Amino acid sequence: QNKTTLSIIVVGASGDLAKKKIFPALFALYYEDFLPEHFTVFGYARSKMTDGELRNMISQTLTCRIDKRENCNDKMEQFLQRCFYHSGQYGSEENFKELDDKLKEKETGKLANRLFYLSIPPDIFVAAVKSASCLAASQFGWTRVIVEKPFGRDSESSRELTASLKKYLIEEQIFRIDHYLGKELVENLSVLRFSNLVFEPLWSRQYIRNVQLIFSEDFGTEGRGGYFDSYGIIRDIMQNHLLQILALFAMETPVSLDAEDIRNEKVKVLRSMRTLQVDDIVIGQYKGHSKGGKTYPSYTDDPQVPNNSLTPTFAAAAMFIDNSRWDSVPFLLKAGKALHSKGAEIRVQFRHVPGNLYRRNFGTDLDKNTNELVIRVQPNEAIYLKINNKIPGLGMRLDRSNLNLLYSTKYTKEIPDAYERLLLDAISGERRLFIRSDELDAAWALFTPVLKELEEKHVAPELYPYGSRGPVGAHYLAAKYNVRWGDLSSEDS
Ligand code: BG6
Repeated sequence: QNKTTLSIIVVGASGDLAKKKIFPALFALYYEDFLPEHFTVFGYARSKMTDGELRNMISQTLTCRIDKRENCNDKMEQFLQRCFYHSGQYGSEENFKELDDKLKEKETGKLANRLFYLSIPPDIFVAAVKSASCLAASQFGWTRVIVEKPFGRDSESSRELTASLKKYLIEEQIFRIDHYLGKELVENLSVLRFSNLVFEPLWSRQYIRNVQLIFSEDFGTEGRGGYFDSYGIIRDIMQNHLLQILALFAMETPVSLDAEDIRNEKVKVLRSMRTLQVDDIVIGQYKGHSKGGKTYPSYTDDPQVPNNSLTPTFAAAAMFIDNSRWDSVPFLLKAGKALHSKGAEIRVQFRHVPGNLYRRNFGTDLDKNTNELVIRVQPNEAIYLKINNKIPGLGMRLDRSNLNLLYSTKYTKEIPDAYERLLLDAISGERRLFIRSDELDAAWALFTPVLKELEEKHVAPELYPYGSRGPVGAHYLAAKYNVRWGDLSSEDS
């Protein structure tokens, strides 16, 4: 253990993701004693900065857990002393070589493992990997590279990207991150299913009417319009975050908890899915409006977004898994920016009770009274099951109640950020939560034809006001499959 050292190189160190997520996650791991005894963190980016300036920049975003304030400042100082910076161009082998010299200085006498985190724009991705390839750790240590999406824009470009990466790295070295897989409640999905008798037997078309995967943000693309405009919400959220949750949700029981066993099952789900059809997707874009004296911008008000942009900031899709477990169960995915609420959840609506003895007490709307399991990924993490019960007293009146596991009441410990779990996994070589290239291929295959069609036909997104519930088209789409969207904002737990 004390003969090895770990160098963590954050490429794109001055970017937003590095500042807001990567450095704070590394510090949290350090604080919790999860980093090896010997480690150094190197920031690499184009901006000129000294080590001191980098430390100063990072220190603004480091936080201590609420329940562990003790020694926090000392720990922060110790952590910052292990952080260094090297400025260079992403496509310059020479600059990376200089970094290599600095790394070697810190690594002398030890077996060096190197973890690269590529947090850089997609157009310079391959150039950076190429230029940095001379930095593969000494022959006995490992080199791993965490890469952030976008992994291409469609099947073709994604395959090209994978092929280019594989000129310099082998698949085992590539850690494609989807940070939704690092979220506590997404991790818990398998525990819920496979370690409780009461759910797994119901987990199929026999008992489940539909499944909804919902992502909603109550702010627009502010400040990220440039990136967002060439990708759009389908590529930004749906093809990765929501689809990954879907695959975990719907997969068969894996042989074991090993990464390859889990990823094999996820790929099977993705490959059993029907390619998304244009009739099964609704796209929207937010428009500006004023309310209560406040003005909300439209998507195209962003100076980095062209005025005539047709890029969707909202999408709702109906997808199907053509296997025996899920045949004809609609999986409804919805993702949107600048909506009325912020959150992410999985809603499982169960079928009606056949021959329900109490149907008279329910009135005509039977759908309202079916059981529903809600896994609220964020905020305010919770798992609750909606059930029917009798209102106490004489007579027979029924009520809806929640059997509720609210994390903040049950657990006092703060939930770690997804990036902490994922970084720790990458350091320990655990690949379970990272996307394998065949998974990525299968995911793109589902969305590429529809993306092409929308773009080639210049399909105009339905406009919806900033802060609203999104385009009404989403409701028609759900209605086509006899589904009513659950509502994130109606606080029902
Ligand atoms: C990112 C998307 O992957 O996820 C962003 O690119 C989005 O557009 C973000 O805002 C949401 O992540 P979280 O963890 O804040 O829900």
